[in-house]
Amino acid sequence: MKSIFNEPEKQIMLSGIQPTGIFTLGNYIGAIKNWRKVQDKYNCLYFIANLHSLTVRNDPQKLKQLTLDCVALLLACGIDVEKSILFIQSHVPEHAELSWVLQCYTQFGELSRMTQFKDKSLKNADNVNAGLFGYPVLMAADILLYQSDFVPIGADQKQHLEITRDIANRFNQLYGPTFKLPNPYIPKSGGRVMSLADPTSKMSKSDKNSNGFISVLDPTDVIINKFKKAVTDSESKIYFSDKKPGISNLITIYSTLAEIEIKEVEEKFRDKGYGEFKLAVGELVAETLKPIQSKYSQLSKNKNYLKDICEKGSQKASVIAKKTLKSVYEKIGIL
Ligand code: TYM
Repeated sequence: MKSIFNEPEKQIMLSGIQPTGIFTLGNYIGAIKNWRKVQDKYNCLYFIANLHSLTVRNDPQKLKQLTLDCVALLLACGIDVEKSILFIQSHVPEHAELSWVLQCYTQFGELSRMTQFKDKSLKNADNVNAGLFGYPVLMAADILLYQSDFVPIGADQKQHLEITRDIANRFNQLYGPTFKLPNPYIPKSGGRVMSLADPTSKMSKSDKNSNGFISVLDPTDVIINKFKKAVTDSESKIYFSDKKPGISNLITIYSTLAEIEIKEVEEKFRDKGYGEFKLAVGELVAETLKPIQSKYSQLSKNKNYLKDICEKGSQKASVIAKKTLKSVYEKIGIL
């Protein structure tokens, strides 16, 4: 069978993002910035994980809208559909099918140990549903369906990659080589961007305090204001340290966006005060996001164009997904 990739010898990179809100600066620095960078070197597949977002209650109309908004945002962030396959998870039903199979090869105990499950169960104590528990298995299905070599993610998803490898290994040992074992691809710096309001917790789009996160669509004045209010410490010295989570977070953001080393940021702002530094970080973030925002405002108007891209993307993704699922069904005896 002819490969759907122009250069089939290249390794496969795959990742997804939930359409639970407009992306944050954390999503951008931890994941999407890398997605864009690797497009020439790898055969890339990127998707909107709309099935994953069902683990919380959504307004159905809003979920549909956000799904397409996220497609427009990924394009605006530089995902190029001439190079990469961009699609919506639910458009390739093999994700849900393989997820069911893999659930039967995953133990209750190992899912109970997932830190994200424990955190989210505490946050949403009134809706600890089976989908939330099985979430990592759907993620394993996403990854294993495409025989992915690498998965570009933020540090919070590392444990999910580990369980994916465990499930794949177990299946391969029972039935012979079936799945490739994927590796995480986490940035050296910026793999965990912290909240501006509480630098000991991760920046998240579901944060109730909107000062804690930067949305990639925040206007410049809002961005600058949020950085001005960012929680730091009282020492007034700019250097990276575990003891200074607020300032270290700002240094990381500056260093990843300016593409310079942490040391260079420390050097550059050595004699400056926190006020000046916060303003400089805010300005750099606003400057970085501006071109993304203007591309997004053009793209998001053209819903038919976005739908067309997703349809073409899911057709290509399906070719690979069907092939893997067929071999799995064959091996386990599904007629
Ligand atoms: P999601 O939607 O929570 O986040 C998308 C990506 O952004 C990264 N990220 C961060 N990185 C650095 N700092 C932060 N504060 C930050 N917040 C989020 C996440 O690590 C992620 O890479 N389960 C995934 C979606 C998914 C997926 C997959 C990913 C579904 N199937 C298969 C990879 C492969 C998630 O919830 O991402």
